[in-house]
Order: sequence, then structure tokens, then C-alpha cells
Amino acid sequence: MIPQKTVQEILETAKIEEVIQDYVNLRRRGVNMIGLCPFHNEKTPSFTVSPAKNIFKCFGCGKAGDPAKFIMEHEHLSYPDALRYLARKYRIEIEEVQLTPEAVAQQQAEESLYILNEFARQFYQDQLFETDMGKSVGLSYFKGRGFREDTIRKFGLGYAPNEQDAFVKKVTQTGYKLDFLKKLGLASQYDKDFFRNRVMFTIHNLSGKPIAFAGRIMEKDAKAPKYINSPETEIYIKNKNLYGAFHAKTAIRKADECILVEGYTDVISLHQAGIENVVASSGTSLTEGQIALIKRFTPNIKILYDGDAAGVKAALRGLDMVLEQDMNVRVVLIPDGDDPDSYLQKVGAAAFQEFIDKESKDFILFKTNLLLTETKGDPVKKAGLVRDIVDSISRVPDPFKRSFYVKECARVMELEEEVLVSETNKAVKQILQKRDFDKRKKQEVKVNIVPENDGEFPSEAPPESDDFPNIISPKPRTAGHEFQERDIARILVEAGGKLYDENENMTVAEFVLGNIEEVLEDFDNPDYLRIAREAMQLVLGKTPVTTQYFIGHHDQTISELAVDLLHSPWEYSPGWEMHEMYLRSQKKPEDNFNKDSVSALLQFKLRKVIRLCEKNQHQMKEVAKDDAAQLIRLLKVQMKLNEMRNELMKQLGMVVLK
Ligand code: GTP
Ligand code: MN
Repeated sequence: MIPQKTVQEILETAKIEEVIQDYVNLRRRGVNMIGLCPFHNEKTPSFTVSPAKNIFKCFGCGKAGDPAKFIMEHEHLSYPDALRYLARKYRIEIEEVQLTPEAVAQQQAEESLYILNEFARQFYQDQLFETDMGKSVGLSYFKGRGFREDTIRKFGLGYAPNEQDAFVKKVTQTGYKLDFLKKLGLASQYDKDFFRNRVMFTIHNLSGKPIAFAGRIMEKDAKAPKYINSPETEIYIKNKNLYGAFHAKTAIRKADECILVEGYTDVISLHQAGIENVVASSGTSLTEGQIALIKRFTPNIKILYDGDAAGVKAALRGLDMVLEQDMNVRVVLIPDGDDPDSYLQKVGAAAFQEFIDKESKDFILFKTNLLLTETKGDPVKKAGLVRDIVDSISRVPDPFKRSFYVKECARVMELEEEVLVSETNKAVKQILQKRDFDKRKKQEVKVNIVPENDGEFPSEAPPESDDFPNIISPKPRTAGHEFQERDIARILVEAGGKLYDENENMTVAEFVLGNIEEVLEDFDNPDYLRIAREAMQLVLGKTPVTTQYFIGHHDQTISELAVDLLHSPWEYSPGWEMHEMYLRSQKKPEDNFNKDSVSALLQFKLRKVIRLCEKNQHQMKEVAKDDAAQLIRLLKVQMKLNEMRNELMKQLGMVVLK
């Protein structure tokens, strides 16, 4: 732990322009400095550094913060590690606060595991490049697959010799203990090498340290498995690791997309060809931990599948979980008989890139089409298909996206939209009820420390409730948009008085209300409208909009609502606190109000635009047949509205119709 006074010293010493100039070319412009943003691709600089305020801000992608924040974002470090980086740069000594003896022992054990793995990586690499067998078996194999030497070194590829205990001997000679070697799975319990006559792939953690290995068989027609892997250890937790993540993370941020493939060789091939935002699930289906890992860098994921339709269909089942995480999923089918690696080798990098851009399809629509070709007019099968698709759609947390899918899927399946809407709503309701039920169960466990009824949970289902703000309505005019109103109310209560933008000296409440002023009367829910009106009164009267104001309100409905709104809707991703890691789409609640209020407003505006669209369409129907001028005018309006709608949807990260 870094003592607070040292933290203070670091933050006071670090100069934003000096820290950033290690990475970005900056030019003076007035009191500020500008350069090309390192966080997104741009040709004209919108990345601004203010030495006076000691902050940076990109007007292109919105990233902003102080020196520590810059280092965290740029180097993908935790807050403490970013501080350590700055301390090194400015030669500030950190006297780390004393750890407990157990913690020290734990740290030392982990450190030993890393050191041994690094030793192994070096050993396998030396074998590959410097021994006759390594060269003739391993290196020629990699070269035959088209891997360049710089790629081989970058990814820590190697060769495990075809001997019983070459590595174990080497380790013993060097003086390391065999206990750790066994723990890492590098030696068997009989002190023999685990990996023999295999080409080796190093598996890194996010900071690039070797945490495990995979070895690919070299013998043909052998009974042994094609790949064998290190076992799980404290430093290698399989379902939280994605192969290639360390080498891909910067590119993923930049492209705002993560490409997912199956195999180690696919990752390496694509990376070598310049497609660097790629990771592998290593043959298994995605786990929640892996999704959380991707989500730290981007909400957009593109999955490349090889194999036949049946195999792909099976793989698609595992994907509903990704939808639940509010990720945008696209899929690409690699032509039959190839995997990404072999297809890339066949067609070349440019054609490959074009292929995956052009052929990528939205996951749900892809699934619908794939399954639809199978049903071919068989009504029983079609009913099954509807259930299947409804199950997927209902997992999408964003009601706007859901209603988009409902529309599209109804069209593709030639169904009445209402049918799909009501089926989806039923499914959503079930999910919400189950969640509610689970939550209650948990609460009851907490309360009933000594349960009266043998610890049995009440078996009845939760009571029916009509209040499901998440349900899509077929007509946007009726209920169903309350969730954004709730969001806006929540933001006003929780963060209304906070500064929205340091430069413009504007509060969150001023920003939010300024944007919705003219549509304030569009609120469907009278309670949320009241909150907004109250906040408006405060802003107009130049009184600060504080949480306390709402909580202490003399009107009990308002004070109760305020408390209810403050019940945090945030979820920390597992391990969040441990890593002190700021998630891209799940920031710490107190940091999130900016992005949050923008999103709530965009949703609100989108809804208004959709209403206008409907109104306009209605007018177009009413126009007299011979009034061409009027029709053209309305058409133009319609186009403009569609454009606005698509733009809003794009900003919200929704799927836009081409
Ligand atoms: P190459 O055959 O060398 O091109 O490798 P590949 O990565 O294309 O292999 P494949 O498509 O057969 O498998 C994809 C991924 O599944 C591999 O990269 C491994 O992560 C995993 N895998 C394949 N076979 C095995 C196996 O026998 N055992 C284990 N543990 N994993 C395997
Ligand atoms: Mn392959």
C-alpha cells in the first residue's frame, strides 16, 4: 500500500504535459497543448492538454483526466500501479506500508511462480532457436506455418525437447525448488518433464507475465491430445484468461472491438498480419469471467467461427450469456474447411480484413436466419424457433435494442410483431421475476440467521407485479419508457449538483435539464416528472441541487422516491475492488454520472425522434395524392428524422440498419 502522503506528493509533482509527452507529440496552442489522441484513431488533433489545470481531455473520444488517469488508461494499469509508475518517473520513493506476514508469504509464493514460468519460457525459447532438434522440429514447424521470427519471439513460442527430464535437470541445476515446478505443472510428481516434444505457446496475463503454457503435439497420428496445458494455479485462472489479451488490449481499445477466435495459431496469424485486436477462447465456450475481461476494453465483440453449420449452431447456444452482459455481438462464418489462420494464409491480409468486415452479421439476426433455413415452413419447428429467438432477445438488457430485434426478427420470420412482443415480454418478465426472487432469497438468508423453518425458503413464487419498467411496449406512446425517466430522475437526485464539465462550469442538473427542457412534458411518469420539475426550480433559483434536498423533502412521495432511486443499480464486476480497475462501461458509480447522463438523454431524445417519425409517417398517409410538393417535403423530413434516429442509435451503441 502506498501511504496517503506519498500519493499526495506524486499527484502534486506529476506534470501532465511531461507525462503525456513520453507517449504523444504535443504542440503548443495558446495556453494549451494539442496532439493526436492515443486512445482513438484520428487525423486531426483533438487531444488537448492543459498544463495549467494539469489535465488532458480528448474532444474526439471524450477521455479525460489527470496524469494518473492518463497512465491508467494508456498502460492499462490499476490506480496504485499508475502511481508507482509516476513515482518512478519523478524519483519519488515509496515506502510501502507493511504487509501482514501471510500477505508477504503469499506474495513471495506468487512471485516464485512467475519467476519459474519466466525461466521456463526462456528455456523453451532457447531450445527452439539454439538446439538442433529445436531448429529442425520446432522452428521449421513454425516457419512452415508462416510465422516470422519477430512474431515467434513476441508471443514467446518455444520448443520442449523430446527428453524425459531436460527441463527438470536445468531447474535443479539452477537451484530452484521442484515444489513450485510441480505446482505449475511443468514437472510430474516423479520429477519428469510434463511437456515433451511439443511446440510451446506461452500464455500471458494482462501485464504480459507468463502464467501458463500450452504445448502442441509434433508427432503425427499419435494417440495423445493435440494440445496439453498447464493446470490452474493462483496465477492462472483459466476461465478468467483469454489467450492473446496482453498483445491485443491496446488494439482492442483503439478499434473499440474485440475479435474472438478459437485457436492459439489463429491469434498469432492475425496479429502478425496486422489485425491485432484478437484473442482466443482456446477451444472452449466463453465464460463469464472472459466476457468481463473483454468488457473492460470494449462492449463490441466479433466472433469468427470455422466449421459446419451444425457446429456453429451448437456454439451459438453459449452466446446468450454475452447478450446478458449488454455486449454487441457480431459473428462471421469462415468458409467451410478453413479456420481463421488458414483462410488468412490463403487469401492474404487485405482480403481477410475485407471479408470479416463485410460478412459480419449481428448475432441475433444471424441466428434467426440460420435457424429459419432449417424450419422451411414446418410450423412445429417454427414454434420452437420462435421460443429460441425470444429466449435470446429477452436477455438483452437494453429495451431499445430489444425492440429493434423484435421488429427485425418478426420481419425475417414473417410473424406479426405483436406476437413476438408479447412472447418477449413474457420472457423478460420471467427473468425479472426470477432475479427478484433470487434477490429476496439472498436477503432472507441474511436476515434469518437462525431460521425458524429449518432454513427452507418459502416455495411460492414472487407475487405478480405489473410494474416492470423494462418491458417493451409495441406502441412507444404508452408505458415502457419509464426506465429512462427513472434514469434521469436518478441522475438528478444522485449527482445533480456535481460539476458536469470543469471547463464550462456547468452542473449535471443544468446540463440534463438544459437538454430536456422542451420535452419535459413528455415524461410519462408523474413522479419522475416531479423530480425533474423540482430540480428545474432549484436550477432556476440558483440553488444547488443536492441529494439531501430530495431526501429531506417535506413531500413524502418525493423523499421516498429519492431514497428508492439511490438504491444503487450498479454492479461491480467480479474482482473489481481487488484490482481497483476502472471498467470502461461500468465505472465507479461516483465517476459515472457524466457518461450516464449523456446516455439517459440520448435515450430520451431517441424516443422523441421516434415519436416524430411516427407522426410524420402518419401525415404522409394523409397527404392528398396530387400534393407532390407536400409529400416531398414530408419525405425530406422523414429522411432527416431517420438520420437523427440512426445517429442517436449509433451513439448509444445500438445496431443500425444499413
Ligand atoms: P493448429 O492445428 O496448430 O492450427 O491449431 P488450432 O489452434 O487451429 O487447433 P484447433 O482448431 O484444432 O483447436 C482450436 C483450439 O482448441 C486450440 O488452439 C486449443 O486451444 C484447443 N484445443 C484443440 N485441441 C485440443 C486438445 O486436444 N486439448 C486441449 N486442451 N485443447 C485443445
Ligand atoms: Mn488451425
